[in-house]
Amino acid sequence: MKDLTFLKKESFSASKYKEMVKDYQNKDNPTGWFENIYKSAQGNYKEVFWADLEPSSYLLSWLEKDLIKKDKKRACVIGCGVGDDAEALSSFGFEVIAFDISPSAIQLCKNRFPNTKVTYIVADLFDYPKEWFESFELVYECNTIQVLPNNYRKLARKAMSGLLTKKGYILVSCRSRNENEQKDIIPLPLAKSEMDEFILIDRLKEIEFLAYDDNQEPSIPHFFAIYQKN
Ligand SMILES: C[S@@+](CC[C@H](N)C(=O)[O-])C[C@H]1O[C@@H](n2cnc3c(N)ncnc32)[C@H](O)[C@@H]1O
Repeated sequence: MKDLTFLKKESFSASKYKEMVKDYQNKDNPTGWFENIYKSAQGNYKEVFWADLEPSSYLLSWLEKDLIKKDKKRACVIGCGVGDDAEALSSFGFEVIAFDISPSAIQLCKNRFPNTKVTYIVADLFDYPKEWFESFELVYECNTIQVLPNNYRKLARKAMSGLLTKKGYILVSCRSRNENEQKDIIPLPLAKSEMDEFILIDRLKEIEFLAYDDNQEPSIPHFFAIYQKN
């Protein structure tokens, strides 16, 4: 088996990580490496280097505003990682399906939350079950468009919007960049013009758009946006 220890939180190597991602992208296999990240954790969700191990505070604040009825409503978490955001949505009363392309990620979630009400399932955003189409009142995605390059992020955006019911909301969280900067630089932050395609191409309505710097040192710029299907 390949040595994946450079992907673990405790021995993480950013340069080797970027090299691996580039390698998969150059082979036009931009989703082939995610399983490596979760496999390298060897069953310990705390070893997943990008996992915050807590739900997004922006997701929580929006849920607390109580703009959407939650009980018996269906929510979907795309690229759910180790499950914190899915569990938060479930605790607010949503029936949650949380999926990830990585079988090891889904296994980590199932082991971590043995009594969960969330349905954790291995699925590919580019080929999800037909019955999911237009069936979720709320869709949450954090950093999944962002990890995909070029045309794949456009396809991802379209697939995400396709999950929404009429009047359904999608919450999108990602790193951001200025237009014409860092275009192909991993971790591939998004420009505002890419976010605006939810409005201009998918015809969603912008409900909120927040640009903020996180509290890392040095801080990293992010977008948090909410769109609604008409
Ligand atoms: C940067 S991680 C973010 C994970 C999690 N959302 C978080 O905030 O910690 C991106 C996630 O998207 C998943 N992913 C990437 N492409 C996917 C696809 N086509 N279908 C489903 N999940 C995908 C990856 O396996 C990974 O867990």
